[in-house]
Amino acid sequence: MKRDNIPEVENTAECGRGNRLIDAVSPQEKPVVRKKVKGQKFIKTQVTPVEPCDEKAMLEVQHLTKSFGELKVLDDISTKIYPGEKVSIIGPSGSGKSTFLRCLNVLEDPTDGYVFFDGKNLSNLKVDINVERRRMGMVFQQFNLFNNMNVLRNITLVPVYVGLKELAKTKRHNFFIKIANIFKKKQDKKPLIPIEKTKKSIKEEAEANAMRLLQRIGLSDKAKAYPSTLSGGQRQRIAIVRALAMNPEVMLFDEPTSALDPEMVGEVLSLIKELADEGMTMVIVTHEMGFAREVSTRVLFMADGKITEEGTPKELFGNPKTERLKDFFSKVL
Ligand SMILES: Nc1ncnc2c1ncn2[C@@H]1O[C@H](COP(=O)(O)OP(=O)(O)O)[C@@H](O)[C@H]1O
Ligand SMILES: [Mg+2]
Repeated sequence: MKRDNIPEVENTAECGRGNRLIDAVSPQEKPVVRKKVKGQKFIKTQVTPVEPCDEKAMLEVQHLTKSFGELKVLDDISTKIYPGEKVSIIGPSGSGKSTFLRCLNVLEDPTDGYVFFDGKNLSNLKVDINVERRRMGMVFQQFNLFNNMNVLRNITLVPVYVGLKELAKTKRHNFFIKIANIFKKKQDKKPLIPIEKTKKSIKEEAEANAMRLLQRIGLSDKAKAYPSTLSGGQRQRIAIVRALAMNPEVMLFDEPTSALDPEMVGEVLSLIKELADEGMTMVIVTHEMGFAREVSTRVLFMADGKITEEGTPKELFGNPKTERLKDFFSKVL
């Protein structure tokens, strides 16, 4: 893994939000357009010293703070998530679990502190957040599928969009090389970038991949069905598969089973467990204590915007240290 030095830290005074819906991981989330506000200098929001990020960590959070107005939701959180780890986040409602997850893939901009993904500082404006985000699969409580598109299109939408965008970029690049080559001697002419894909092949490849994923979860016969005709469990498994279609390096789950009827929780959890067994790095906010205990390699307990206790499931469930966690377990176990 190539590591740059820690880039200089900048943050905008304001973060505009774009309107190209499908550039984001989820259809209900718009991509962040991070731009310098005209006439304003970058504001350095950093008050804590920057520490070098850990080369081995996939995700690293340093002194992450998030406030909504007066309300401080995350309070100076630091943690690292290494490749292959399955981290469960548990804690009472309102403790900032969703906000923490949303800060990891910058659906929320941190008020202070840093998030590093694969060594890249996501607060740095030079990092294209929409590109980095595609390497993180996000699954929400409410599935967030497009109801006006069939299952296949829901899954292929972003891969096709990204594929076409890359194709257009290469073609544009070649166009400029061609123009520049006109004025060059034969031996100085630059070679064009070979283009193997066509619009058709991009679409076909994405569809073949989507069908393979649907087969895996036993829903290939639902490819042409619309989300509204499916059960909650089926919809959530499709939402997971849609995230997988981008070949993410880490999966972030925000209470993936809490909107489901009890009889459908099992099918979704077993798919997540399968991914965990295959070695997928994952962060999962969950109320399913049995699942957290069985599947995770580490459990974080969040309360009042802080990670107040963490450890292996055995340590945390077997021997909770703080009163806060004991009290939480007494309510949920
Ligand atoms: N966009 C927002 N604007 C204002 N307050 C918010 C926003 N998102 C979350 N909050 C508040 O932040 C706190 C933590 O929320 P959340 O991260 O959703 O907690 P959890 O997922 O642990 O239940 C809550 O008090 C919630 O009302
Ligand atoms: Mg939540």
